[in-house]
Amino acid sequence: MEVAIAQDSDEIGRIAADLFEETIRSNPAAVLGLATGSSPLPLYGELIRRHREEGLSFASCRAFTLDEYVGLPLDHPERYRNFIEAEFERHVDFAEGTVQGPDGTASDLAAACAAYETAISDAGGVDIQILGIGSNGHIAFNEPGSSLASRTRAEVLTERTRDDNARFFDGDLSKVPELCVTQGLGTIMEARRIVLIATGTGKAEAVAHLVEGAVSARWPATILQHHADVTVILDDASSTALRLADYYRERWAARHRR
Ligand code: GLP
Repeated sequence: MEVAIAQDSDEIGRIAADLFEETIRSNPAAVLGLATGSSPLPLYGELIRRHREEGLSFASCRAFTLDEYVGLPLDHPERYRNFIEAEFERHVDFAEGTVQGPDGTASDLAAACAAYETAISDAGGVDIQILGIGSNGHIAFNEPGSSLASRTRAEVLTERTRDDNARFFDGDLSKVPELCVTQGLGTIMEARRIVLIATGTGKAEAVAHLVEGAVSARWPATILQHHADVTVILDDASSTALRLADYYRERWAARHRR
């Protein structure tokens, strides 16, 4: 697991965007895995800038989002599909219909989740996946106790996650859906390359488990220790509980010294 401890949000965006750009330049038809939440925003901002100023194109790419609330109306701004459209998709040049998300409005959620798995594998699988992490160690909406081999499915959100996300719903917990659909940990692990961004002291405990803890369903992100190509990009605040933070800084500097 590569660990970068960045100075600021611009550097976080640059490091993550370098990995995405490398993937897209080597395969213009790359399949991208997109995530919601505030953590990926520096990446999307930098990719949008490179699209506008440096001609980075997404015209031949496809993209799949990680998860979705169940029960939000199609035009709700916090619907994850709408978030991705507003924060990233509409600012670059994806072709019509090439960005897909799991369907949280389907009457048969199990069938919709199975169809989503098929769509990802029919596209050849995800080449590069961006992730955030929940304060309880979830990735996508794989809450503690998720099977480490889980696939795309409907799930029940923990109160902690609903509480964390209430800030997007006028601070009103009762407005946060109780159900979601999410790619499973087994699904995410099939992405060929994974980039995870975490910032702020609220993520420090989850980050310590992710990078240095035991692999356990209690902290679902720890499954990423079994993936061969993961880059974790942190700020100072989210890295405070890492015992080997100094070593990660030295290692990153040594590998990226020009
Ligand atoms: C939600 C999403 C996750 C995301 C997490 C952290 O629960 N389902 O994919 O990683 O929030 O969000 P943020 O980056 O805003 O802290």
